[in-house]
Amino acid sequence: MQYKRIAILMAMEQEALPIIEYYKLKKTAFFNPVVIYSNKDESIVLSLNGKSTEFGIDNIGSQAGTLNAYITIQNYSPDIIVNCGTAGGFSNKDTEIGDVFISNSRIIYHDRRISLPGGYTEYGIGFYKTINSDFIAKKLQLKQGLISTGDAFDLNEYDLKVMQENNVDVKEMEAAGIAWVCQLYNIDFTALKAITDFVDKPHKTGEDFLKNLNYASKRLKNKAVELIDYLSTDNSSAA
Ligand code: ADE
Repeated sequence: MQYKRIAILMAMEQEALPIIEYYKLKKTAFFNPVVIYSNKDESIVLSLNGKSTEFGIDNIGSQAGTLNAYITIQNYSPDIIVNCGTAGGFSNKDTEIGDVFISNSRIIYHDRRISLPGGYTEYGIGFYKTINSDFIAKKLQLKQGLISTGDAFDLNEYDLKVMQENNVDVKEMEAAGIAWVCQLYNIDFTALKAITDFVDKPHKTGEDFLKNLNYASKRLKNKAVELIDYLSTDNSSAA
């Protein structure tokens, strides 16, 4: 599959800057609150969640990711959406700070507790589709993992239980919202996440995140560039 237009969806400007600089993307549009960067022929569109005008910070979380995905699909009709960002990992899974994971099989939510019969519990978890990443992970030497989304930066006992039951490798705050919109509109989806902190160790999540954000963002950029190059090339004879 060769993707002609690839949209990279990201939450925080600081995470995105290395990718924007590498491709020399220009700020080309604003659809409140989403900020669009693109190259000349718009074969690469990078859409940021934008800023909260109330708090002067980047919009983060599944709400902002969902809106970003909808706006990007409506305005650019990408062939695939790649959600790039940073995330929490699990130290008991042989993960290291700066490791970059690509999603495999499904994206779930770990904090949508709906204890009602008739499918609501499963609906809450979501199980959204992603493209098969087996070949890509091997070729680009990426870790493959199950990515789980929640709207809290920390986690509670229930979140951890859902993550353990589903053998989650990566905890972050946007992918499931974006994957849902992609599933609705039949757009291919994958996610690439670089680890900044461990969620299964007693630690100060925010401090570790801030300390490792630049390092992880650079590692993310290196792998994102390899992934975008791979997805925009005709690989039909390879996979
Ligand atoms: N992004 C980076 N670290 C994270 C964590 N521990 N939880 C959610 N999102 C994150």
